[in-house]
Amino acid sequence: IIGYQSYSSNKELAFDYEQQGMNDQIVIKFSHVVAENTPKGLAAIRFARLVDEYTNHRVRVEVYPNETLFSDKNELEALRKNEVQMIAPATSKLTDVAPEWQLLDLPYIFPSYAALEESLTGEVGDELLKKLEKDQLKGLAYWPNNFKQITSNTPIRTPADFNGKLFRIMPSKVLERQFEQFGASTSVLGFNDTFRNLEGNNLNSQENTISNINSKKLYQVQKHLTISDHGYLGYAVVVNKQFWDQLPQDIQVRVSKAMDETSSWLWSASQELNQKQLDQIRNTSDINIYKLSEEEKKQWMKEMEFIYPEFEKQIGHDLLKKALEIRN
Ligand code: LMR
Repeated sequence: IIGYQSYSSNKELAFDYEQQGMNDQIVIKFSHVVAENTPKGLAAIRFARLVDEYTNHRVRVEVYPNETLFSDKNELEALRKNEVQMIAPATSKLTDVAPEWQLLDLPYIFPSYAALEESLTGEVGDELLKKLEKDQLKGLAYWPNNFKQITSNTPIRTPADFNGKLFRIMPSKVLERQFEQFGASTSVLGFNDTFRNLEGNNLNSQENTISNINSKKLYQVQKHLTISDHGYLGYAVVVNKQFWDQLPQDIQVRVSKAMDETSSWLWSASQELNQKQLDQIRNTSDINIYKLSEEEKKQWMKEMEFIYPEFEKQIGHDLLKKALEIRN
């Protein structure tokens, strides 16, 4: 299979490997869609470095950022075919594979970063990862980004201000409903098509994390930024299952160690990175920034919670209940 280059646990070959250097390396191609100076971009680089260290160069992780290997639309298919061995799509992009994942798109399901971390590193996160195990997919970890904010061509202070807007969204029914309820239209587009379409006025609004708004310069083609923290955007690191299952046990252990350390690092680094990049946007661009007060956020939450019962059946009653227990 591609990506698995003749490594053998046979002692002689292992010895040979030491002699010859790179010949028997296992290659993990890791494709993603964002820039390198983002939570996911930095985590992928860190993970590659740790894997190299912990496997003593036996495994090489080749990171392809910015859709240079596979596009947003076809990376999942490429993973299934083992044309790439690892991806880290935003969880919204997995809602088609496993509808339970719609939980993570519900507006204000996580009222704080601490609640988010508690959910995803606990029982809720474990249950969701299990649901992914189908069609050659295996979820290894959660990599957080942060909460989404809204950019637009006119000010957005309340959900009623969504009326008449055309939002770019990721593929998820929850996200569609969240805007359509208030009279907005939505368009599902690949991440790297967003700037172009905002610039050309085919769209006039979008939601994303600060690191994505910053690295793709979306603030240059939008007039208003609302810090709403209304929804979560983060990733599941997913591998091709057959590729993973065929890795020698000791390699799995070492790669998992690198993954665990990268994830822990990212849980503490991601928030700060987004905050720093918000300061950068504030200092270097003309975009008008409006931060919702805690009172306003509560009001948004109240108005947007209509979605919860609509999706409860698809998400699963128990899973939603568990998440709400952490929230409340
Ligand atoms: C998006 O499509 O907006 C995000 O999924 C991009 C990303 O991977 O952070």
